This record gives sequence, structure tokens and C-alpha cells, in this order.
Amino acid sequence: MMKLGCCYYPEHWPEDIWTEDAKRMVEMGLSQVRIGEFAWSRLEPTAGHYQWEWLDRAIKTLGDAGLEIILGTPTATPPKWLVDSMPDMVAVDAQGNPRKFGSRRHYCFSHQPYREQCARIVEAMAERYGDNPAIVAWQTDNEYGCHDTIVSYSEAAKLAFRRWLTDKYDNVDALNTAWGNVFWSMEYRSFDEVEPPNLTVTEPNPAHVLDYRRFASDEVVTFNKLQVDILRARSPGRDMIHNYMGFFTEFDHHDVGRDLDVASWDSYPLGFLEQFWFSDEEKLRYTRQGHPDIAAFHHDLYRGCCAGGRWSVMEQQPGPVNWARYNPAPLDGMVRLWTLEAMAHGAELVSYFRWRQAPFAQEQMHAGLLRPDSEVAPGGHEAALAAADIQQLGQIGETAKSVALLFSYEAAWLFEAQPQGQSFRYLELVFEMYSALRQLGLNVDIVSPDATLDDYKMLVVPSLPILSASLVDRIEQLGVPTLFGPRTGSKTMDFAIEAGLPPGPLQRLLPLKVSRVESLRPGLTEKGADYDVTRWIETVETDLPSDEVVADGRGVVFSNGTVRYLASWPPAPLIKRVFADMTKEAGIDILHLPRDLRVRQLGDVHFAFNYGTEELDLTDHIKGDTLVLGDAVIKSAGVAAWKAD
Ligand code: GAL
Repeated sequence: MMKLGCCYYPEHWPEDIWTEDAKRMVEMGLSQVRIGEFAWSRLEPTAGHYQWEWLDRAIKTLGDAGLEIILGTPTATPPKWLVDSMPDMVAVDAQGNPRKFGSRRHYCFSHQPYREQCARIVEAMAERYGDNPAIVAWQTDNEYGCHDTIVSYSEAAKLAFRRWLTDKYDNVDALNTAWGNVFWSMEYRSFDEVEPPNLTVTEPNPAHVLDYRRFASDEVVTFNKLQVDILRARSPGRDMIHNYMGFFTEFDHHDVGRDLDVASWDSYPLGFLEQFWFSDEEKLRYTRQGHPDIAAFHHDLYRGCCAGGRWSVMEQQPGPVNWARYNPAPLDGMVRLWTLEAMAHGAELVSYFRWRQAPFAQEQMHAGLLRPDSEVAPGGHEAALAAADIQQLGQIGETAKSVALLFSYEAAWLFEAQPQGQSFRYLELVFEMYSALRQLGLNVDIVSPDATLDDYKMLVVPSLPILSASLVDRIEQLGVPTLFGPRTGSKTMDFAIEAGLPPGPLQRLLPLKVSRVESLRPGLTEKGADYDVTRWIETVETDLPSDEVVADGRGVVFSNGTVRYLASWPPAPLIKRVFADMTKEAGIDILHLPRDLRVRQLGDVHFAFNYGTEELDLTDHIKGDTLVLGDAVIKSAGVAAWKAD
């Protein structure tokens, strides 16, 4: 059964309230608590002088109250004495500025002596707490990449990049050929001449940028693995977890996930709505709810990041946050809705950030489950309601596979290196397709291109610029309806145009050639039947008939057997139609949901979530089925669940 928890910072509070805090957590229905992830300066106030006693007592207090503890390693916040002892450990931004001490995440993943310090503190913690029965899991570091901290242009990163390139290319001529360095006389005579791709006069070579992004991602993988290996050896049987972020693609989460047991993520739907690309209309409409697909998108993405599909929400927004441009309060009911929605998508845990609002420092304006005066805040009341709902619903079974959507972090880096039109944004493209699927009531798994695709009834590949022939073979063997989006198969591994033109290896299944591509500025559109093509359109040469044609006669959807290609940015009516056709071929039932309603099936339970401000009447839909939560008329920010009879 899904658990509830919270993030707690005993070091922020007088010790004499810990016992009461722990008791109140349990009374609220919480059973897990995450601690420790920023506590380095309290654990080791000066080099080599550990102070464990306070953490010993905190763990005992929480454990004695019956709470299971997720212990964080504190490596996201190296203390001042450590930074001063090795000032070159800080990351350097693209403008060449060192990232100073005074907040957090001021380290470079490539700095070897910093890694040694991380290994040392992690080892010391694991020695002390590894077999403590209250510790059920470890969280490595905190939000790799938060505050734009993956890609560093430091001296340490430069040297590590050269080693990475040497391993990859073996000799520098191979690198020159792969990157096409003859262009603009960029050829190198040795790996020692290669610099990070920043501060160039105009754009650096995109192949150089892509390799730098791959390198930066690999640095996160090895940084994380260093900690995991230490923890696994000294704390057997505990889950290894990292808390990933929302709308974040700077490193390959699938690669990091291979070393973890549980992929968790930090869910702040209102902050994300405000900070990302959503239109003003959407920002206003969903200002107190978040766009109905934001949380679900990440639930379905992170379920695909660890073997076995284990995932959780490590930080759940409990009220207004402090870090977006505007920080409204959620509608009454939303904290409960977000919690139950995570359950419907299969989460193991929803842990609220944070137990009590801090009255000091950077996040003093960020809500908690409790107010700074320790009274229960609205989020705390809703957490208690959600805890009761979860009990009522009980253990629910597994979900059958339906639609897989292929997601590639490398694709995100590639399009950032060469957008060819500033509104071609990979994450947005994926989100639009995901949202269209969800509006049809479909259960979606977002998976890596390397994932096993067996048993899926339908596949969506929003775009995969580097497409391997082996994936094409696998998809052919599966033989289920599959859509490939624009720019699929457009580049080689080395970031060159495919010799036979895009979609490269896909031409074996779809005999067509993309002969020209164009990006469209806002306002410039191509008219289709009931839609406008915006942002991106391709000119396709083929003998295949086109399923959809725009006003100038160009086809935008082509199909051959079960495989389809979309030659433009997906207009909403068009993509929904295409998906509806595919579901028909796949034998999957769909719904046409009103704008504010989302559904999900988990085991034999159907959930519905009302993201609107008006009530929604589902009486006709639920008919004779048995309601197990809520009513057939779902109020604003309400949830209903039912089982088919
Ligand atoms: C997360 C972070 C937390 C806290 C929270 C505030 O990104 O992991 O430590 O800062 O945001 O919303």
C-alpha cells in the first residue's frame, strides 16, 4: 500500500520538540521521514571532527515513534571549510564564472578530490547508520542538477572531458572526422588541445556540444554510483533512491536509474506551471491546480527509470512554494488530489516537502504541512485526509501494459545544441503528445528507447533524432501501431545528417525522404483540415499517399502498415485523431475527456481527477460500477474511484 511521509530537518529545530513532531507525523498518517540531506556542516563542523550524537538521537526519536527513515547523503551542500580547502572544487558556469559558496550545489561533478570527500562522508555515515533498523533507504545527494548545475566548464571538467574523449575515440583523427572539424579549421592535433565548448565567438560545433553533454551526464552517473556502491556494501537491504526533478533533462535519468532501486521525483505542480512554457491562458486557468498532465507526466516518466518500475514522490508541494515567479496557494483539495493521483500511477511513497515551514533563510516563504508556529497548515489537513483515503482503498494490483511513449535524454541535448527554430523544444513536443494521449483516457508508460517493449499495444516516438537500426528492427517485430514524430532518424551518432536523408534507418519501414525542413515563427502557420501547423514542418518525398495534407499540398502524416510518420509539430486536433486511429487498430478503448478531467486505471480500480474549478458529473460513465472513493459528481479538485462490476 502506498505510504506517506515528509521531509524533516531536525537540525533546524530545538531538540525538545522532536518527540512531539514525530508523534504528530504518525497521527497525521505518515510512516516515512527523509532527513539529513543538507546537514554536512552539523555532522562535520570542521575537517575530520564528526558530530554524530545529535543525528543518533534524531534517528532514535523518529524510529521509536515508528517512522521509517530515508537518510540523505549531504553532498549537495559541501560546508565552507571544505570549499576553502579546495577552492577549485566549485563548478564554473558557461560564462566562466565560478559558482560561489552561500547557497547549495556549488560543486563540480568532475572534481576528483571533492569526490573523495563525498566518498569519505558517505562512508562515515554508512558505517554509523548502515545497519540501523530504522533506516530503510538512502537518498544520494539531492536533486542532481538543481539550479543549473550539471554542465560545468571548470578545469577539472576540461581534463575529465579529455579523458572521456580519449576513451571514446582512441585517436584524435577519429574525433576530427566524427565532429567534422575540417569545417572552419577546427582540427586538433591531440586530445590535450580540446576545450569545453563555451565562450566561443559564435556557436560551437554541435557535435562537440553533444559530446560534452554526454560526458557531463556520464559524470553524474559515476558520481552517483560512487555513493551507491559504498552504501550498498555497508547498508545491505536498504533501497537506494535519488530525487529527480520536474521538466529536467540535463543528464540521462535512465542511466543513473540503473544504479538505483527506486526513482523518486520532486513534485511542485504550481511552481512548474508558472516556470515552464505553458500559455498565459493555461497559467491562469490552472494556477491553483497545475496543468492536469504535469504531475502525471513525471509519474509515468519516473516509473520507467528503474528496473522493476519502482518509483515515488520524495517531495510533494504542500502549499505555496517560494521559488516561482508567482506562488499561489493550491485549491482546497489539490494536495489530496496530487497524493491520490500519485497512488493511481503506482507510487510507493508520497513524501511532503516539508514537515514545518522554516521561519529563517532561503525557503522561509515555502509552505510546510505545519506553519512556522507549529499549527497544522491546510496541506497538513489534506495529507491526513489522503492517509485515510489510502487506507480505504487498500492494496491495489498492477496495471496491464497499454501505450509506451519513448523518451530520450540524448534527444533533448541534441535539439538544444541545434534547435533550428527556437520553439522546437523536445520536452514540450513530448509533453504535447503525452497530453493528447491522456486526454483520450489512456494509461501511458514513458520508457527509454532501450526498454523492453514487449506487451505494449501501441508505441509513440515523439522524436528520436538518433535512431538505431536495431530499434527499427525491434519495432518491426512488435508490429503494433507506432507513430514517429518529426526529426526522427535525422542524425547519425556523430551529429551529421543521415546519408540517405531523414528518417534514416526508418526508411526501411517507411519509404519516404525528408527533403527539406523549416521552422515557423509565431504567426506563420500552414492550414490543415481543422488545425494550423505551427513551429515546424517538413517537405517529404514519397510515393506513399498522405493521410493529412496542408493547404499548400504537403502531406504531414504518412503511413505504411502499422507505422506512421508525422512531418510537423503536432497540432492538437490532428494528433488526437492520429492517436484515436491507432488505438482502434490496437484494440484499445478510449474516452474523449473534458479538458479538466483525467483518469487512470490501476489494477481493477478506475480513478478520476477533477482539475477544474467546476464540478464534473460522471454518473453516465460510471453507471452501475461500484464507487470505492468519492461520488459520481466530482467536485472541483475532487477524486473519485470505482471498480467495474
Ligand atoms: C526542491 C529541493 C528542496 C527544496 C524544495 C523547495 O527542489 O530538493 O530542498 O528546496 O525544492 O520547493
